[in-house]
Amino acid sequence: MASFFSFINNIFCTNSVIDTSEEIETARSDSLKNHSISVCNLNLSINDNKILKNISVNIPNKKITCIIGPSGCGKSTLLKTLNRLNDDVYGIKIGGHIYIDGEDLFGKNVEITHIRKKIGLIAQRPTPLPMSIFDNIAYGCKINGIRKKSELKKIVEYNLRSAGIWEEVKNRLDDPASVLSVGQQQRLCLARGLAVNPKFILGDEATSSLDPVSSRLIENLFIKLKQKYGIVLVTHTLRQALRIADFVVFIYMGEIIEMGSANEMFEHPKEKLTKEYLSGVFS
Ligand SMILES: Nc1ncnc2c1ncn2[C@@H]1O[C@H](COP(=O)(O)OP(=O)(O)OP(=O)(O)O)[C@@H](O)[C@H]1O
Ligand SMILES: [Mg+2]
Repeated sequence: MASFFSFINNIFCTNSVIDTSEEIETARSDSLKNHSISVCNLNLSINDNKILKNISVNIPNKKITCIIGPSGCGKSTLLKTLNRLNDDVYGIKIGGHIYIDGEDLFGKNVEITHIRKKIGLIAQRPTPLPMSIFDNIAYGCKINGIRKKSELKKIVEYNLRSAGIWEEVKNRLDDPASVLSVGQQQRLCLARGLAVNPKFILGDEATSSLDPVSSRLIENLFIKLKQKYGIVLVTHTLRQALRIADFVVFIYMGEIIEMGSANEMFEHPKEKLTKEYLSGVFS
């Protein structure tokens, strides 16, 4: 219990502007001990436009963390940085550290493919590969050296089941993925992400292009999946965050204004900006 409280305490207390080696070591060891993603004083600018400012947060494993904030505040940029998807953006400068399992995502010898195996990203709109339903899942496994058909079959079934779509596709695995509905395609993409055995799944408004039924289906999947994975979701829908978040991070103009357990944030927000955002004064 003590470690649980110290962990919660970390979530509240890591936002600071001073980048000391002690802070960096704390972030590194937190990520190692708690299997969390520890972000320490992350600063990001594009062409001298400061987009993320002194972001420090300990994102817990096996919980759902929702990142909320008004349009343009930097939510997607933060999520992309966790997956190193904006490395190649022209004019980008990134400072600070992000640790997962004690390993710095920006470390000198870190390979991007290695990071993407640990942290998978689901986009706003489903992006199935132009191949069969089966191959969409098997593709990543084949790249990782799994060739045996029987093993691939098991992996495909397991992950389609985990993503709650097996029953709907089990008799048409050879059909092109493009024939699936948008909601089914999003669950297929989730299955594809799960198939490489990540520790964390990131979703950038992963349900915003779906109808309410498909959206709820995915929300319920996230609730199940958090037993095994850390889940980080950017959402515009406060109701969705209310339904599924364990932890909430509120960002405004590139800075974390407040973060904490969902109950605390939604019921007793401390900061004026958080109160205004949650009550719809601005969106
Ligand atoms: N590649 C880029 N080049 C220049 N500016 C960028 C780039 N990507 C993001 N930005 C800027 O960074 C800021 C944050 O953008 P970001 O997409 O992270 O916001 P967001 O919080 O996800 O917004 P939304 O809720 O509308 O999706 C914006 O001002 C945006 O214009
Ligand atoms: Mg965005």
